[in-house]
Amino acid sequence: MTAPPPAQVPPGRYAYGDDGVAIERLLLLAEIFEPATREFVASLPVDDPEVVLDLGCGPGATTALLAERFPEARTVGLDASSAMIETARTGLGDRASLAVADVSSGRLPGAPADVIYARLLLAHLPRPLDVVAAWTAQLRPGGVVALDEVERIVTDDLISREYLGAGHGTASRPRHGAVRRPDARDDDASWRL
Ligand SMILES: C[S@@+](CC[C@H](N)C(=O)[O-])C[C@H]1O[C@@H](n2cnc3c(N)ncnc32)[C@H](O)[C@@H]1O
Repeated sequence: MTAPPPAQVPPGRYAYGDDGVAIERLLLLAEIFEPATREFVASLPVDDPEVVLDLGCGPGATTALLAERFPEARTVGLDASSAMIETARTGLGDRASLAVADVSSGRLPGAPADVIYARLLLAHLPRPLDVVAAWTAQLRPGGVVALDEVERIVTDDLISREYLGAGHGTASRPRHGAVRRPDARDDDASWRL
């Protein structure tokens, strides 16, 4: 069982670290989440984006899905960890640009963007609502911020149940949505998270 994260993690530092075990764990998670993420990314209502950002890209599994979905775009993966970025670079080759960056404040490298995507990142950020608002301000007209998170985990696995303090069942349910720029038309409201 993975140990719970420490109570205090310095800003920009991933709670589970970035050693080989942490990277392996994220690659395993990526396999589990791939079908839901692929479906979500396919549904994003963006035509011919020029710039696609993957925030907190980790070892690059999500960056690969974005590059596949938007082959004509410049896809950029950003992560605070240089070890994550090196792993992503090895896996992605020239399919994406990658850079070490703290995405919780300031201008995002590559912005303004047509798609700003983040999976499993919000829980690691200080003041996530403020941070998402700042990302939204860095969209190009018609762009979307796409957030891919877990709403709850329900499992029959005893160790996982003890860890989660949760009920039982078999489903793990992803929750995701996208927000448009604040100046989007009213009929875009269905894309609010
Ligand atoms: C749970 S992992 C998710 C990785 C990837 N998005 C995925 O779904 O496979 C969270 C990632 O966010 C990165 N991260 C955490 N805080 C960050 C920050 N402030 N700026 C950039 N990256 C950050 C961590 O280094 C880690 O790689």
